[in-house]
Amino acid sequence: MPNAARALVILLAVLVAMSAQAAESRDPAAWGEDHVGKLLPEFVTGGECLFCHRYDIGNGWQQNRHNVAMQEADPASPEMQSLAANESMKSILEEVRFLVGNTNRKRFLKPNGKYGQVSIHSSHWLPPSETNPGKVVVGDTPHWDEALFAEACAGCHATGVDMEYKGFSTPAIDCFACHGVVPEGHTADTALALFSKKNTAGPPVQMSICAQCHLRGGKSAKSGLPYAYQFAPGDNLFRDFKVDFSDESIAKLNPGDAHIYINARDVVVNGDETMTCVTCHDVHGQSSRKHRTLKRLEKETYCAICHPNLEDYKAVTAYEVHSETCQY
Ligand code: HEC
Ligand code: HEC
Ligand code: HEC
Ligand code: HEC
Ligand code: HEC
Ligand code: HEC
Repeated sequence: MPNAARALVILLAVLVAMSAQAAESRDPAAWGEDHVGKLLPEFVTGGECLFCHRYDIGNGWQQNRHNVAMQEADPASPEMQSLAANESMKSILEEVRFLVGNTNRKRFLKPNGKYGQVSIHSSHWLPPSETNPGKVVVGDTPHWDEALFAEACAGCHATGVDMEYKGFSTPAIDCFACHGVVPEGHTADTALALFSKKNTAGPPVQMSICAQCHLRGGKSAKSGLPYAYQFAPGDNLFRDFKVDFSDESIAKLNPGDAHIYINARDVVVNGDETMTCVTCHDVHGQSSRKHRTLKRLEKETYCAICHPNLEDYKAVTAYEVHSETCQY
């Protein structure tokens, strides 16, 4: 069987086993608050946090994929050089201010005159891979789209999107996106900061925070847009953000997106709180190494999303990530 087909069969088996062992199911929208129809709370920018946290956090933050979810265009980078060398694209070189994306795909952005908004160019940068040295894919009708980024991307690739203007306040995924409003008093009482070691916010709150961006395919009931409506950490994402957690829908996802959906469904629908994203992912360390010690959790069906043979965890199912939401 080809790899992709085998992965699908395994995933289906996982889903069936998981529905059978479902704990107490709950209504994901039944708890907590949201910021629909309210103002987003005031928050300080990462620069202010890093004034004090420059040694514990600042060092790694420059390279953290959340911090570079939007990047300033660097004329010396291969993607900008490649624009310069392309006859039909040279003309936009001077306009490009930001890039969005990383090792799978990048897109070019420029300010569009509205506060906190950018236009996105229809061309794509395909970063270097085994089969391609890195190239710009232009398409038949290269053009800037003024509304697309604000309507379909900003909420997950930038921070603090005010839905009245659909403008972001920071062109990066800033501390606020995960830690929320961190009161000054947290220096003495660290429990006040979400995701601090002493904070007591439970798995549904933590899951809401990561899921606001990582459940690609969901939709805000209020705006109809594919990102959460003025979500502030601490809120219940699922009061407004509607997600299809059905087996049929999850079976269509690659293992990268599937493990996110299944973990989220376990916590917010099935009431199984043994594991969240941060059980496995160290966000600041950019590592999933700690997941290697989780055999004791007895989550075999979950592990099988990526490990085809539970007798030998060295084997990992190969997969590619594509996303309609993100156009790659
Ligand atoms: C619901 C939130 C959400 C929305 C809306 C969204 N993205 Fe994404 N995007 C993500 C997440 C999360 C990732 C990282 C996924 C991963 O690595 O598995 C990502 C990854 C990407 C990547 C690939 C990064 C890499 O690995 O190279 C690109 C490019 C991208 N998004 C562009 C866009 C564009 C353009 C739009 C709007 C048309 C958009 N995204 C809308 C959440 C979102
Ligand atoms: C994408 C989500 C995310 C963003 C953005 C983020 N953090 Fe964190 N941060 C976490 C999580 C999750 C933890 C808990 C530790 C862990 O599991 O990685 C954490 C832990 C911390 C800690 C405690 C470190 C420790 O040793 O436990 C500090 C301090 C911190 N973050 C500061 C910041 C600052 C400052 C920023 C912005 C520059 C920031 N964080 C941005 C998710 C995030
Ligand atoms: C005036 C200096 C200062 C500023 C500004 C500041 N912090 Fe802190 N922060 C501290 C100190 C001191 C501690 C407690 C000692 C420690 O654990 O690092 C702390 C603790 C934390 C912790 C908990 C660490 C743990 O023990 O788990 C987090 C998370 C955190 N800060 C995030 C932030 C974020 C996000 C911002 C910006 C919104 C911020 N801090 C702004 C000084 C500051
Ligand atoms: C505001 C949106 C947002 C939030 C909140 C968010 N992420 Fe992300 N995350 C992204 C995007 C976008 C990317 C991909 C950025 C890129 O590579 O261009 C990403 C990348 C990642 C990656 C891949 C990094 C890598 O090195 O391969 C992991 C893992 C991840 N996020 C985990 C988390 C966890 C855990 C949380 C919650 C603590 C979280 N994220 C919260 C948007 C978000
Ligand atoms: C049981 C552990 C585990 C849990 C729970 C988990 N992950 Fe992962 N995740 C992994 C591992 C392992 C990888 C692969 C990392 C690698 O390739 O180095 C991964 C990959 C990813 C990636 C990169 C996907 C790609 O291939 O581009 C993202 C983004 C991500 N996880 C986000 C999340 C989020 C958000 C949650 C919570 C809803 C979550 N993960 C829950 C273990 C876990
Ligand atoms: C999203 C995909 C994903 C999921 C889900 C996942 N893993 Fe992994 N796992 C990986 C990848 C990729 C590697 C290789 C890179 C690494 O070591 O992180 C790996 C490596 C490992 C290793 C180290 C194997 C070795 O000896 O080199 C162990 C042990 C492991 N995983 C256990 C688990 C357990 C237990 C679970 C379930 C709780 C699980 N994994 C869930 C992707 C995943």
